[in-house]
Amino acid sequence: MPARTITISQQKGGVGKSTTVVELACAWGVHGVVPRNVAPIKPGASRKEPRRVLVIDLDPQAGATAKLGVNPEEIAPEQSVMAVLEDPHHPIENSLWAGVYPGYGIDLIPGHFELEGTEAELARRQGAFSILRDKLAAVAEQYEYVLIDSRPSLGLLTINALFACSEVLIPVKLIDTECTNGVRAVLGALADVAEHGGELQLLGALATFHDARKQTVADAIRTYVSGNLGVPFLQTVIPDRSQFGNAALEGSPVNLWRPNTDGASSYRRLAAEIAEHAPEIAYAA
Ligand SMILES: Nc1ncnc2c1ncn2[C@@H]1O[C@H](COP(=O)(O)OP(=O)(O)OP(=O)(O)O)[C@@H](O)[C@H]1O
Ligand SMILES: [Mg+2]
Repeated sequence: MPARTITISQQKGGVGKSTTVVELACAWGVHGVVPRNVAPIKPGASRKEPRRVLVIDLDPQAGATAKLGVNPEEIAPEQSVMAVLEDPHHPIENSLWAGVYPGYGIDLIPGHFELEGTEAELARRQGAFSILRDKLAAVAEQYEYVLIDSRPSLGLLTINALFACSEVLIPVKLIDTECTNGVRAVLGALADVAEHGGELQLLGALATFHDARKQTVADAIRTYVSGNLGVPFLQTVIPDRSQFGNAALEGSPVNLWRPNTDGASSYRRLAAEIAEHAPEIAYAA
């Protein structure tokens, strides 16, 4: 079975995209109990455990890379997703970090701070939409899930993510009304991708940063996104918790750092919900 390839996209920044990527990766990928603070395995290292999840970080902020315990400053461009996109002769395997931590079923293709330059470079190329899709085909079958983190904009990096994936999940921060414009922008990009032959399904919207004290604004945002924009919400709601920021400072997903918190378990529920329900909404232009 080919991997389910899911891009997490939202034009609005700071809504929980990178957090969702790393927490889902942990929920699906972690095998057994593993000590913390162990060194990442570098590209080419031997792997003993089965791999379930591949994370691809397409954001120059490299947030998902850092949250998975890899310091983006220590990664050379040719060990990152930069070379995958820029160099037609660079095999994707050469940027594959074989296991972010030993014992975890998560591989990573890291982001890089200089990806901004890559985006400009791609703008000068023919056929730049589908570079990631074509390279990913070489390794996708090894995984059950491929999770792609995207930046808060809809330029060529994100367009590559949308062409490479089969499903899109749109986080919606329930305390930020501007998120609705971000959802609308993503829908526009999905229509463009569909028009150019990309095949995508919308997994739905994910409610993040839920705070019961701000229910009125949350209800208004939900009604607009599902009613006016036609994007249904997944059932799972992610609560607003400082644990997420604290875990990020530790260079760890909450699901490893504090797995017994309700923030961590909300993402495990989300992982189960996505695993059980293949998307039904085919995206049509
Ligand atoms: N449910 C949550 N509750 C509280 N804080 C959260 C939650 N999810 C994420 N955060 C924190 O909010 C900040 C933004 O989250 P994150 O980096 O996942 O968003 P993003 O959408 O990837 O941002 P960007 O658009 O800049 O890439 C981070 O500091 C993160 O730790
Ligand atoms: Mg991010």
